[in-house]
Amino acid sequence: MGIVFKGGTIINAAETVKADVLVEGEQIVLIGANLPTKGHQVVDAKGKYLLPGGIDVHTHLALPFGGTTSSDDFETGHRAAAFGGTTTHIDFVIQPKGGTLHDGIATWRKKSQIANIDYGYHLAITDLRDEVMNEIPSLLDEGITSLKLFMAYKNVFQIDDTTLFRAMQTAADNGMIVMVHAENGDVVAELTAKLLAEGKTDPYYHAVSRPSTVEGEATGRAVALAGVANCPLYVVHMTCQEAVEQLRLGREKGFPVMGETCVQYMFITADDLKRPNYEGSKFVCSPPVRTKKDHGILWQALRDHTLQVVSTDHCPFWFEGGVNGRIPGKELGKGNFAAIPNGLPAIEDRMKIMWTFGVGEGHFDANRFVELNCTNPAKIFGMYPKKGTISVGADADIAIWDPKKRETVSAATQHMNTDYNIFEGYKLKGLPVAVWLRGQQIVDGEKYLGHNGYGKYQKRSPHAAVL
Ligand code: URP
Ligand code: ZN
Ligand code: ZN
Repeated sequence: MGIVFKGGTIINAAETVKADVLVEGEQIVLIGANLPTKGHQVVDAKGKYLLPGGIDVHTHLALPFGGTTSSDDFETGHRAAAFGGTTTHIDFVIQPKGGTLHDGIATWRKKSQIANIDYGYHLAITDLRDEVMNEIPSLLDEGITSLKLFMAYKNVFQIDDTTLFRAMQTAADNGMIVMVHAENGDVVAELTAKLLAEGKTDPYYHAVSRPSTVEGEATGRAVALAGVANCPLYVVHMTCQEAVEQLRLGREKGFPVMGETCVQYMFITADDLKRPNYEGSKFVCSPPVRTKKDHGILWQALRDHTLQVVSTDHCPFWFEGGVNGRIPGKELGKGNFAAIPNGLPAIEDRMKIMWTFGVGEGHFDANRFVELNCTNPAKIFGMYPKKGTISVGADADIAIWDPKKRETVSAATQHMNTDYNIFEGYKLKGLPVAVWLRGQQIVDGEKYLGHNGYGKYQKRSPHAAVL
């Protein structure tokens, strides 16, 4: 017995079609008009859209960072993702200092044993010794095709340009892609020390210590090095005009460079960091949230294909860590903005927010929405056409989307394991109401049907698309 999704409208990146979908086992096996239902379970999708399950390629679950650990793990974060229509994500394995890349993978494999949705790994390199360089090609055996380098977080994750360029050369030789966190960490460190010495310690000064020019400079540097190395580059969490301009320039020159922004960078501004009673710390992430003008630049870059993906950089912390025995959170930075754990919760909200405001307010159409949130992530990171599309032979990862359903965002009703939501009070229209992952229903309205261990590790293919 299979499942027939009956009477819905399929939205893929390339087209919108009214058709039924037959799923057998874990895969989509047939798409067509008026498919017979005899012997099959029938899911009534009349008046609804069928979207490919969302793919969030930038997450940090259970990440030790900033003197604590991000508060969602591979169980709670996955459940929240599923309620938001996301069925696959890629998390960042961090190479431990002095350790090997495989040491990092072993740690992440343990964390992932409780996985509820499908997942892959990027490998964040922090220490590129010769033997680590030699280890890179073996990542392909693990299905890891993407290396991440941090150009910021001095004395923590930051690498130098030699390391970045060598990693790019090796990645290019092996059909891999390099991802960068693009901020000039040396300049950030100088500005941070100066601001703190002047007694400027509130959350707002975190943004002052990381101006957009510093992001633009690092973006331009990474783009230029990728051009020299002829290495596919993907700039993560881009926030501002200066960075977008550098990426656009590189693309005009024909360099294989791409970029993402994250949902928060189109809505939150640096003024939110000034909220009283230390509430500004809820919005502290790196690079920082910017200005309304930058929001417009990002929407335009998503429309004109300068940017290819919307992700989340989901890296939540408690606002009131320490309450009820919780792990520490944002309070670690009271009196010192540099000690605020960097990161935000968003994995549950991404698709719902981008639909309501991206499609609902006419920034782009529903097909581009699917392209940015599902299809391009799969293509760029070597999972297409298994993931990211509703097509025959693809995994049956399907979100039934009700374009009329409304909801008001609230931390009180969210599934993310934290005590606030950066979009609190936003009014949404157009929401996932039921979600399948590889043919198994994991969300039915407010009911969660997933379970620990169902999520499958996704081995990814090298030589993926440069879009
Ligand atoms: O503030 C952020 N972005 N935290 C997560 C780590 C990173 O830089 O992506
Ligand atoms: Zn980052
Ligand atoms: Zn990140």
